[in-house]
Amino acid sequence: MIIEPRMRGFICLTAHPKGCEQNVKNQIKYVQSKGHIEGAKKVLVIGASTGFGLASRITSAFGADAATIGVFFEKPPLEGKTASPGWYNSAAFENEAHKAGLYAKSVNGDAFSNDVKRQTLDLIKADLGQVDLVIYSLASPVRLHPVTGVLHRSVLKPIGQTFTNKTVDFHTGNVSEVSIEPCTDEDIANTIAVMGGEDWAMWMEALKSENLLAEGATTVAYSYIGPSLTEAVYRKGTIGRAKDHLEATAFTITDSLKSVGGQAYVSVNKALVTQASSAIPVIPLYISLLYKIMKEEGIHEGCIEQIQRLYQDRLYADKPVPTDEKGRIRIDDWEMREDVQAKVAKLWLEATTESLSAIGDLPGYKNDFLNLFGFEFEGVDYKADANEMVGISSID
Ligand code: NAI
Ligand code: NA
Repeated sequence: MIIEPRMRGFICLTAHPKGCEQNVKNQIKYVQSKGHIEGAKKVLVIGASTGFGLASRITSAFGADAATIGVFFEKPPLEGKTASPGWYNSAAFENEAHKAGLYAKSVNGDAFSNDVKRQTLDLIKADLGQVDLVIYSLASPVRLHPVTGVLHRSVLKPIGQTFTNKTVDFHTGNVSEVSIEPCTDEDIANTIAVMGGEDWAMWMEALKSENLLAEGATTVAYSYIGPSLTEAVYRKGTIGRAKDHLEATAFTITDSLKSVGGQAYVSVNKALVTQASSAIPVIPLYISLLYKIMKEEGIHEGCIEQIQRLYQDRLYADKPVPTDEKGRIRIDDWEMREDVQAKVAKLWLEATTESLSAIGDLPGYKNDFLNLFGFEFEGVDYKADANEMVGISSID
């Protein structure tokens, strides 16, 4: 079977095993090119199969020689159906880690559940004893609450009033106006339940209560702020409320980790094309303009460049870890540079279907989007039969 991208709306239904493998190999090569990081040696990554979480797992393993346990929710391949990209990424990651003599095992299932937490704690207990870094990088539209049994669905909506602005269909390049109706109070509560800090705190509490956190253990979760252009739908919308909650939770977790001398951080990352961000209206147009400017300035980064810099220049640079006035690590510093934002704001006003190909980086957006599913990588023979039942070695 020759595997090609099959699009439906904001998602691609197929993924390419060889391309995902190439993606992982490219990220490993990048991390290795930046030299050794004196970082954590036993790392748990929750949300480890794609995006920032995958980049965190790769940076831990190939930057700091860490043993890693990755938790994620991915679909294995079925007869006549490809796996989800995170499955192929994780299979490739484990292969490369094992070849390099690094411990790597994975848990595939719902990280919000008691069962997956139990499995992960047991694995740490049996194989690593304790962990000294926990990366929390989940992006999910739903959470089945393990205590109440309620299924919460997150929404991406403005709060209080209808938001109208430009957006782009990145498949066609068509720029149009989109209006998003304001959310209900219930939507806010649900979005906080899914993307806020409660589950992060539950993980840390579970790890601590079973003595699985090493002295001085650190945990990091990822957040986003972004410009005023996207504020109504992002930072001041439902998802922003969840991020406020996540950021506040860092302080509660730090308090609860006092007994082990631990510390929780939120790192504010750059806007990037991931499966999660492609689904947010307005953001793809912002990203395509941002990419254009940041590439021109020579300061564009992908997930792996961001996380490698997070480790090398923030987490494992000279203590104390540099943070903003709200205690957050900022690796969105280049995105948020005043000159960069002024240029994006100007282009935003000019953006139309006709002008976008000249003023925005739609090809860069599309390329990154296809890359998420293992397509468009150099060095991969996409004409070859790729119908493989790829397994993840620690799972199968
Ligand atoms: P992603 O969609 O690439 O990765 C999500 C990860 O979570 C995957 O490993 C997936 O398997 C896992 N996952 C989802 N639901 C799960 C569940 N129920 N159980 C176990 N694993 C589950 O997303 P991305 O973009 O890397 O997001 C990670 C974090 O980074 C999120 O908190 C997001 O808000 C944040 N962030 C994203 C930015 C962006 O522009 N993409 C910018 C700044 C922060
Ligand atoms: Na992730």
